[in-house]
Amino acid sequence: MEFAARITGTGSAFPLKRVCNDNLAQKIGKLGVQTDDRWIQERTGIRERRMSATENASEHNSSLGAVAAQKALVMADKNPEDIDQIIYATCTPDTLIPSTACWLQQKIGAKNAWAVDINAACSGFIYGITMAEQFVRGGQTKTTLVVGAEVLSPFLNWHDRTSCILFGDGAGAAVIERVPAKSKRRILSSYLSSNGYLSQLFHIPAGGSNLEVTPTRYAQNLHKMHMSGKEIFKVAVRALTECALRTLEKKRMKTVDLDWFVPHQANLRIIEAVANRLAFPMEKVLINLDRYGNTSAATIPTALDEAIRDGRIKKGHTVLMDAFGAGLTYGAVLMRW
Ligand code: UT7
Repeated sequence: MEFAARITGTGSAFPLKRVCNDNLAQKIGKLGVQTDDRWIQERTGIRERRMSATENASEHNSSLGAVAAQKALVMADKNPEDIDQIIYATCTPDTLIPSTACWLQQKIGAKNAWAVDINAACSGFIYGITMAEQFVRGGQTKTTLVVGAEVLSPFLNWHDRTSCILFGDGAGAAVIERVPAKSKRRILSSYLSSNGYLSQLFHIPAGGSNLEVTPTRYAQNLHKMHMSGKEIFKVAVRALTECALRTLEKKRMKTVDLDWFVPHQANLRIIEAVANRLAFPMEKVLINLDRYGNTSAATIPTALDEAIRDGRIKKGHTVLMDAFGAGLTYGAVLMRW
């Protein structure tokens, strides 16, 4: 018997604290770093972002992931015990060990699941869905939970105005279920790619096993995000366009066949450049970065969830999700909702 995989439920969650551009400008202004609302909005499209109060356990990565997962389960009409696999996409885990997937497992009571983290940075949700689809189609799992969630704020370098203005915290989740192979509503195709030769463009130098955080390295902010924004911008536009076209090509489809495009939310100018190259109208592009900034692995599932819940994405709509991130990693998933 052959199977296909379908997303049957989505959910999202964000920390309570809103930080608008003016608040951020004030915060970094105290460190002698200048920015303003106008520059941020014009160059990125971001108005505000959410930031976790990490001293509050309910805003830890796995706690936000758990809320998003519970909402996705309700939409899919499933119980936590029904989940047999948890794939948690994050580059900002609660702890290095155990995995954030295991923390989430105990928080939601998914006692029949096996749980694992994956790190493909901002492409994590796309990688997670693609991996889940393989297990479901192969008959090894029936119900998978894929979470894309980040608490990036502790890793931001507040002295670097080109990166600290971009990011926010949040979580999105999707339930993937086994359906008959001929189902119309299912994941239709996907495409993944990485270029590890570009790893230096976006990295956190210290805090892994090859560079311990010492007081000197701490003072140098080596445990924080280091990003070459301009270079990433150019690669991102090319990669997102290519991933979209390759994923559509696998089903012999074109952009005119799409109802919605859900790109990774890194910068509105990147999204507009990709939509332009694909000759795809911006009215059909889902955007949430104005309110949440770049939430890395959470951007796509949260934008998807928002549009499903407010009725823009309707049963039978064809949706293309497309991401790039640190690594660099890239990928896209085409699905019929
Ligand atoms: O998930 C993947 C994560 N990363 C990305 O996607 C990053 C992609 N890259 C970008 O989004 C953009 O390259 C940035 C938003 C990072 C930067 O925008 P840009 O248009 O490429 O600006 P730039 O770096 O070329 O800087 C232009 C000017 C510079 O001033 P001068 O040299 O022209 O006087 C910067 O110093 O803007 C200045 N600038 C700022 N000014 C006010 C840079 N950041 C800021 C800021 N506020 N926050």
